[in-house]
Amino acid sequence: MTRMAKTVRESQTEMTELALPGDSNPLGNILGGRVMHWIDLAAAMAAMRHAGQVAVTASMDRVEFLNPIKVGHVVHLTACLTWVGRTSMEVRVNVESEDMVSGEHNVTSTAYLTFVAIGADGRPVSVPPLMVTTAQEAEEFQAAERRRAERMKQRKPTNGATP
Ligand SMILES: CC(C)(COP(=O)(O)OP(=O)(O)OC[C@H]1O[C@@H](n2cnc3c(N)ncnc32)[C@H](O)[C@@H]1OP(=O)(O)O)[C@@H](O)C(=O)NCCC(=O)NCCS
Repeated sequence: MTRMAKTVRESQTEMTELALPGDSNPLGNILGGRVMHWIDLAAAMAAMRHAGQVAVTASMDRVEFLNPIKVGHVVHLTACLTWVGRTSMEVRVNVESEDMVSGEHNVTSTAYLTFVAIGADGRPVSVPPLMVTTAQEAEEFQAAERRRAERMKQRKPTNGATP
């Protein structure tokens, strides 16, 4: 079934969190695992909005933590579709922290994740094409194709098969 293309903007997802002490290490920095959890959630919402289906995380590329997020900071996550295949979608998540007292904003991470849409039978199902509308989105789409080629080279067999 051919599905109507959707723009990047249609599924763009903004998520805001308050960095709390229960998520921090003894230095008062938010734990990397908590940030990765937020990244996964923001990306999942963007992927499911685009697919109009439930989607599962297939992979998350290397994530770097460029600046600490301190307890009390606001954490802004922005998730955008960058590429769509037949059943899979790449999502970029930008993470930024905001010190509400000083007003300072810092980029803390950028992550790329791949989601796969899942149909009622539990199998991957096709998703709408991605309509790129700006030169930046077109560049990002091409870069995503290169990342996907690398991922496919490294992909391991599933269902218990021996690598
Ligand atoms: C992801 C999953 C659905 C893929 O299933 P599969 O039987 O290997 O499916 P296919 O081989 O048909 O691949 C489906 C799509 O996923 C992509 N894909 C599969 N594994 C991938 C990986 N590790 N990284 C990136 N893309 C991947 C394929 O390239 C294909 O994309 P396309 O249709 O756009 O060309 C399956 O491995 C799974 O269910 N994994 C567990 C997911 C999960 O529990 N996530 C955490 C909780 S949400």
